[in-house]
Amino acid sequence: MSNIGSYDERVRTFDWSLAEQELEYTAGAGLNIGWYCSDRICDKGGADKLALLWENAQGEEKRYTYDDVRVYSNAVGAVLRRLGVERGDRVCLFMDKVPELYIGVVGILKIGAIAQPLFSAFGDESLLVRLSNAETSAVLTQKKHAFKVRKILDKLPHLKHIVIVDHDGKTPLKDREVPFSLEGSKAVENLECFPTKAESPSVLHYTSGTTGMPKGVQHVHYSLISQFLTAKWVLDLQESDIYWCTADPGWVTGTSYGIIAPFSLGVTQCVLDAGFSTEAWYRFIEKNRISMWYSAPTAIRSLMKGGDEIVKKFDLSSLRHLASVGEPLNSEAVVWSERVFGRPFLDTYWQTETGCIVISNYPGMEVRPGSMGKPFPGITGTILDPSRNEPYPAPGKIGLVALKFDWPSRMRTYWRNEEAFQKKFRNNWYITGDRARVDQDGYYWFAGRDDDIINTAGHLVSPFEVESALLEHPAVAESAVVSKPDPLNLEVVKAYVTLKPGFAASKDLDLEIMNFTRKRLSPLAMPQEIEFVDSLPKTRSGKIMRRLLHAKEWGEEIGDTSTLEND
Ligand code: WTA
Repeated sequence: MSNIGSYDERVRTFDWSLAEQELEYTAGAGLNIGWYCSDRICDKGGADKLALLWENAQGEEKRYTYDDVRVYSNAVGAVLRRLGVERGDRVCLFMDKVPELYIGVVGILKIGAIAQPLFSAFGDESLLVRLSNAETSAVLTQKKHAFKVRKILDKLPHLKHIVIVDHDGKTPLKDREVPFSLEGSKAVENLECFPTKAESPSVLHYTSGTTGMPKGVQHVHYSLISQFLTAKWVLDLQESDIYWCTADPGWVTGTSYGIIAPFSLGVTQCVLDAGFSTEAWYRFIEKNRISMWYSAPTAIRSLMKGGDEIVKKFDLSSLRHLASVGEPLNSEAVVWSERVFGRPFLDTYWQTETGCIVISNYPGMEVRPGSMGKPFPGITGTILDPSRNEPYPAPGKIGLVALKFDWPSRMRTYWRNEEAFQKKFRNNWYITGDRARVDQDGYYWFAGRDDDIINTAGHLVSPFEVESALLEHPAVAESAVVSKPDPLNLEVVKAYVTLKPGFAASKDLDLEIMNFTRKRLSPLAMPQEIEFVDSLPKTRSGKIMRRLLHAKEWGEEIGDTSTLEND
């Protein structure tokens, strides 16, 4: 804990150059995250240290030292270079949480290309939208997921290469496919990193917007500065830690704090490439002596459901520090974790756009269960009065969470959508899209989102994207997608649907439409409930009033609809 410092002291003396000094970076010099995540750790004597311990559902295990990460990421970089991938080209990673994903990101960054991680659970439609928007030139994927890429290949003229990362050397290859295997590839001792600089693009993460299709959040190599320091101070990552970030790198948490932060800090991290199971999770912590655990409220609520008794069956005494992100962390979960693990999950708040933790419970600071904590030192936050777009003169009122947009890992723009990026600002404040209040002591209390985006189990789903998919079903005339409260996942997707003439509502049709969206989008974006209705509430100009349906689901006052009618 010694290297963290007290929150108040850190706020008083803060400067991002603290991280620059630790990383021995000077303004204007080269900065390549891939190099920082592997070569630098080896140069500093960490070559033999375990970087990644991976386990799958079958209990199969693989281990990689920092030197392995270095040479294997070199191999990934080399194969992409050989294929002609250049600086700034988008390279998608479409795979499970396999070692190739973690090492692949490092390799892509080393050659100056842009890493675009996408969930392997995505269906062809979700994939198509993101690959065509980014004009992605290569995809790294596993044999088992390649079929989804093949299905949409005709619509992706920019996609030149599909690198099958677990190719056995025998299976016949299809159009544009390239075989690769980490273990089977020749060791690449030296790879010249592309001399990226602070502002060179690094990672492109797609996130859901309220209107329109998902937007690509454009990050740069300089993001390392804040990812490194927030991991060190908020996650309290120390050299001796065994770290477990449960997030998938398809989600920004799994990239910022599942790849970049732990590797650049040279800690040992564990990855469990398997679905959720209470027993399996506790066993994983016990077996690997996990000391720092970064997870999310839905998982914590699931563990709570498992009860206290099961916790006692395992030796979890290695746990030293716990943190959570992605959704409001209810106070019960904080209190429960303190009781059963001997320490509370500390809430952290941030977004794909912020690139790093921006508000959090700083270690050592008093925990107020239910509060997200305070802005990270060096980050200026406020609550804006939505009617004036000015900070409230006094604390206590719920308003818009806004940030001064000036820290290293902030997004630089939305991919080829500067207009949407500019819309995120009011009065020079970056508007997060969330609502909260601040108490007298500066603690932030989350109140809800300020838009229609659905947060299901920590994953943001755009109603627009689900509605677009629904419209492709032959029976669907119109649809409106809203969130519905859910005890475990916070919210789930609910769709109101009107049918085309000749179609009648039935259980079979309901299931068919659900399956249709699951396959096209993803299991999370699939509506958990479909309600067939005769008509949808609309504004005079014909726009569907999602907010009315939302209010109905949440038992809220509908309020003044005259304003909505003019939306
Ligand atoms: C929500 C995730 C309450 C919020 C890293 C935010 C939270 C969105 C918290 C970003 C939290 C994240 N308490 N809500 N601690 N953390 N959120 O872009 O609505 O996938 O704007 O990034 O998740 O989700 P994203």
